[in-house]
Amino acid sequence: MSAQILNGQDIADRLQAQIAHEVEAFKGRYGIVPGLGVVMAGDNPASAQYVRMKRKACEKVGIHSVTHLVNSSTPQDEVLSLVRALNDDPLIHGVLVQLPLPAHIDEVAVLSAVGLEKDVDGFHPLNIGALAMKGREPSFVPATPSGCMVLLREAGVELDGANAVILGRSNIVGLPMTLLLMKANATVTVCHSRTRGLADVVRRADVLIAAVGRAEMVRGDWIKHGAVVIDVGTNKVDDPSSDKGYKIVGDVHFPSAVEVASVITKVPGGVGPMTITMLLSNTLKAARQHVGEKV
Ligand code: GUN
Repeated sequence: MSAQILNGQDIADRLQAQIAHEVEAFKGRYGIVPGLGVVMAGDNPASAQYVRMKRKACEKVGIHSVTHLVNSSTPQDEVLSLVRALNDDPLIHGVLVQLPLPAHIDEVAVLSAVGLEKDVDGFHPLNIGALAMKGREPSFVPATPSGCMVLLREAGVELDGANAVILGRSNIVGLPMTLLLMKANATVTVCHSRTRGLADVVRRADVLIAAVGRAEMVRGDWIKHGAVVIDVGTNKVDDPSSDKGYKIVGDVHFPSAVEVASVITKVPGGVGPMTITMLLSNTLKAARQHVGEKV
C-alpha cells in the first residue's frame, strides 16, 4: 500500500488565493494595505532565501512588505531600533525577526521587543507562554507548526487521543508543535538527540512530526503501519545529477516511508509552502485586529 501524499503546495496555493481575495476586500473596506516588516541580521544563505520567499509571497497576495537587511556585526541596539521603528510604523501590521540571529545578539531581548499586537511569528515570550498554558490563547501562533496543523486538518487526521511523536525540540518548530498537539488532546512524546531507543519511540507514533534537520534519518521501518507523517526537514544533499549539484530532502526517507504511512508530506512541496501561507494569514489577521475587526 502506498500512502496518500498530502500536497502542501496545492493547499498553500488555494489558501493564498483566499488570502489575496480577503486582502483586496480589506483594502476596499478601510483603504488600508496590510503590511509586514522583516528584519534580518547576517548573511545566512538559508535565511536570505526564506526572506526572499516571504517578500515574494507578500507581493503575490497584495500585502505591503518592508525588509531590513543588516550585516552580521550590526550591534544589538541597532537591531532593536529597527524592530521598534517597525512597531511604530502605521503602515506595518506584522513584524518578524528572521532567526537565527548572530551570536552576539540576545534573541530573547529582540523577540521581546516586537509589539505583541504585531508579533506575527508568535515568538514573543508572552505569546509562547499563552500557547503553553491552558485556557489562554496567544495572539499569533508560529507559522511552521500552524501550517502543520492545517495539513493535519486537511487530511482529516483525528488528533484526539492519538500518539503524536515529535522529532526535534527547537523553539521554532518542535516546541510550539508540541504545545499545539497537546491543545488538540494528542498524547505527545518529544524526541531529541539524547532520546534512547529512538526508532522504537518513533514506531509508536500514530502521527509523526519530523523536525530534526537530519537528511532522511527516519526510515520506513521506523514508521508504524498507517501512521501520518509530516516532514518539516529541509536538508541540502549532494546530487551530481542535478544542475545545481544538490537536492533538497526531508528528515524522512520518503521512498521507504511512503510504503508504510497512510498519509505523508513531500519535501519540497509539503510543509514549506504552508509556513509562508500561515505568515501571510497572520499578517492579515494583525491588520484586521488593528482596525478592531473580530478575528
Ligand atoms: N527561521 C527559520 N524558520 C523561521 C520562522 O518561521 N520565523 C523566523 N522568524 N525565523 C525562522
